Amino acid sequence: MANRRLAPASEQPASFAFSSENAEWAKTQIAKYPEGRQASAVIPLLWKAQEQNGGWLPRAAIEAVAAELGMPNIRVLEVATFYTMFALEPVGRYWIQVCGTVPCDSCGARGLKEMLQARLGPPGHVSADGTFSWLEVECLGACCNAPMVQINQDYYEDLTPETLGQLMDDLAAGRPVKIGSQTGRVSSEPLGGANTLIDPTLYDGSRVGAWRKRFEEAGKAEEPAANPVSKTGEAAASAQQAATNPKPARPDAGRPVERTVSDAPAQRAANGEEPVKPEDRADAAERGRSTAKHGAARPGDADVLDSPAKRVAEGEPAAGEQGHQEAPARDAVPQQPEASGASETEVAAEAEEARVAGALAALPKDASPEQKADAVGKRPPGLEGARAGQPDDLTRIRGIGPGNSQRLNGLGIYHFDQIAVWTRDEIAWVGTYLAFPGRIDREDWVGQAKTLSGTGA
Ligand code: FES
Repeated sequence: MANRRLAPASEQPASFAFSSENAEWAKTQIAKYPEGRQASAVIPLLWKAQEQNGGWLPRAAIEAVAAELGMPNIRVLEVATFYTMFALEPVGRYWIQVCGTVPCDSCGARGLKEMLQARLGPPGHVSADGTFSWLEVECLGACCNAPMVQINQDYYEDLTPETLGQLMDDLAAGRPVKIGSQTGRVSSEPLGGANTLIDPTLYDGSRVGAWRKRFEEAGKAEEPAANPVSKTGEAAASAQQAATNPKPARPDAGRPVERTVSDAPAQRAANGEEPVKPEDRADAAERGRSTAKHGAARPGDADVLDSPAKRVAEGEPAAGEQGHQEAPARDAVPQQPEASGASETEVAAEAEEARVAGALAALPKDASPEQKADAVGKRPPGLEGARAGQPDDLTRIRGIGPGNSQRLNGLGIYHFDQIAVWTRDEIAWVGTYLAFPGRIDREDWVGQAKTLSGTGA
């Protein structure tokens, strides 16, 4: 890859300014872009500055373009150093850019570079007479005709070291040269000319319908005179394939369902059945709760509908005797539902919650936990400390966590047997103090404490 540095200071001109003609041209380029987008003209202006400066861009030209477009110098320098089409050092009268990317490299670009190295010296070096300089660059977009070089503004393709040398000789001598492929290729067609799609019948219309004609002729040749419906062409081939290699089909594939619909009205009529049995019709009218249409009742429906008339006729006991649940009579007293399932403990807890809520409602909002507890119950007696310094693990009671265990200890409650003897008032007091009234009953702290303390079940 080319070295993208500015030329040494010794080669930099002191200043640069567009000629009046190029300045006018620059204005037309800038005018192509909307107000505020003048920077979009940076590449055309750099290109023109390079052209005016003999084929390379000095620092002064880069800064002049930046000033013209109102861009920071560094932004224009970024563009100039990125694109290899901008030469940053002086070049020869013919500047040869050799593509060294893979396709060209595979097709002989290395031979071109070796030839240039031998004839002109290292890349960037200008020949003694100022005629040539060269540089390796990346793909120039003519890969189909690799290897190739760009000399000034023209491409030369399908090169060999010999043809490139001859080309340079002609340029140096001022002789006319051939631009493009040096082997006579047109555009990017294959070497040796086109070798596909060259059948003239593709273009004279004679191929259109030819395949159909061949099938028809082949079919006519196969057609027996005595069989006027025999198939021809593709149809004959398909028929033959089907006869020798039949494909299994699913039994019902593509066919209507032919199974008998045994409960269809037409089928019942064909079997000699009445569409609706008289007793079923009467039963439906009696109960008044059937959603079935009269015409929909059918043999077997009596069992499904479980008509009382049918059961009585068959000698079955009354529904009530077998545990059947019949629709109640209109004037019957509705049976009370069973208990909701709430235990006595839960019912008591709910009642206690209601009582506590009423008592607390009479207190000021800023009442302390003790004041609230005193309003609803009686503080249980506490101990100065755990007996023998060994408190019970109150968290073994479901519903008491470490936090509440500490708060209970603060009330002098350390042991299961203390909780086991709490009265209703004391339960109310503790529950309110801990701010979860009713929970002690719901979780049965007292019962659990009795069990854990061994004082009762
Ligand atoms: S690789 Fe050389 S022109 Fe594309």
